[in-house]
Amino acid sequence: MKNDNENLMEKIVSLCKRRGFIFPGSEIYGGLAGTWDWGHFGLALKNNMKQSWWKKFVDSRRDMYGVDAAILMRQEVWQATGHVANFADPMVECEKCKKRFRADQIEDKIKCANCEGKLGEAKQFNMMFQTRVGASEDSSSISYLRPETAQGMFVNFKNTVDAFHPKLPFGMAQIGKAFRNEITPRDFIFRQREFEQMEIEYFVRPEDWEKYFEYFKDEMLEWMEEVGIDMAGVHELEVPDEDRAFYSKKTVDFEFDYPFGRKELFGLAYRTDYDLSTHKLEYIDEEKGEKMVPHVIEPSFGVDRAVLALLISAYAEDLPTGQAGEKGDEPRAFLKFKPSIAPVICAVSPLLKNKPELVEYANTKVFAPLKAEFGRVAWDDNGNIGKRYRRQDEIGTPFCIVVDFDTLTDDAVTVRDRDTGEQERVKVSDLISYIKNKF
Ligand code: GAP
Repeated sequence: MKNDNENLMEKIVSLCKRRGFIFPGSEIYGGLAGTWDWGHFGLALKNNMKQSWWKKFVDSRRDMYGVDAAILMRQEVWQATGHVANFADPMVECEKCKKRFRADQIEDKIKCANCEGKLGEAKQFNMMFQTRVGASEDSSSISYLRPETAQGMFVNFKNTVDAFHPKLPFGMAQIGKAFRNEITPRDFIFRQREFEQMEIEYFVRPEDWEKYFEYFKDEMLEWMEEVGIDMAGVHELEVPDEDRAFYSKKTVDFEFDYPFGRKELFGLAYRTDYDLSTHKLEYIDEEKGEKMVPHVIEPSFGVDRAVLALLISAYAEDLPTGQAGEKGDEPRAFLKFKPSIAPVICAVSPLLKNKPELVEYANTKVFAPLKAEFGRVAWDDNGNIGKRYRRQDEIGTPFCIVVDFDTLTDDAVTVRDRDTGEQERVKVSDLISYIKNKF
């Protein structure tokens, strides 16, 4: 029997597929472990999260410089940083069935969980995907898909300083793909082989690192709350010395209570001058009239884990009696996204789709102006109204707007609230401001 947490994950994965959020990668060929494809609504949700992050950490500040670096970089970048030598997880292989496990994630270190065969010695397995650039097959053509977006910023440190002449402290920010050949990808989009990160490298004077570490801890928490992650499920963990990445002198992980356990959501690291020094980069501090190597505070956010934490935070069900939604025997599932983050802000429906006068009114006087104002507006005339509400609830649409026969005479529509199921009559001319007020 599955427990409640396993059931919850199953419901979320199934909803994501059914409603066009997230699909298994390469599914029609049997799937590719550790990869997921984003459908229309998942993409909208992910883009809203990224935009909200960029707005808070870049656009609303004066000290942040954006970068979009190439994913492929020269192999020397990863040799200098130590990733070629050290970016590895311990792996064990079963001598009988050859299945591989992450040695630090299995309880029984001797017996294989798959076939009960004997597990071999743990070996370090480098997680970088190796590839070749150009037609040559010699070792000089080796490159790697970046395992973190961070290095794309460090290698552009000099370019950024030369172009913008920023004063310390200042930061660089990047959103982009990262790749890790995880030994055991698992838990839906939690541990993937291809994922996205939103990272900041914030350059400070060495004596200021603690101040900015604390500052970014608060900023990170503020953003999580802003997008709607359930803060009761977020916990800080100071990562012990033996578990910290090789480049960090202090790391705080923000963990989240996922249905599969309390696990890392985001990380905040003090990378010292490790990266700039290994790339032999420095900065001229004009205030002090000296050359120095700034130290780095790194707030690092996984986009996919942010989406997963939000899906888990937003998922809700009504009691089987349908206390807040449509009455029925089946519990109603809905996603309580904030309007600012929801993939669809409102859905517009003519009460009956075979009544041209309703369709015409709904289309021209309601849908078109809302679409022009908000963009994320859906047209939904499929099935009866109860079915439409259920569908939009699962997508997380905060407002369903219905054009009925009264609309034709009173120029008002019914607006139904996703969370309470309550309905209000709103003048068509007031709709845009009504919705804006709910943001
Ligand atoms: N530049 C620092 C860095 O990459 P990390 O803790 O290895 O640090 C940062 O990764 C964030 O990236 C994590 O907190 C997590 O949100 C996300 N992340 C890491 N590995 C992931 C994976 N395999 N699948 C999905 N997200 C992952």
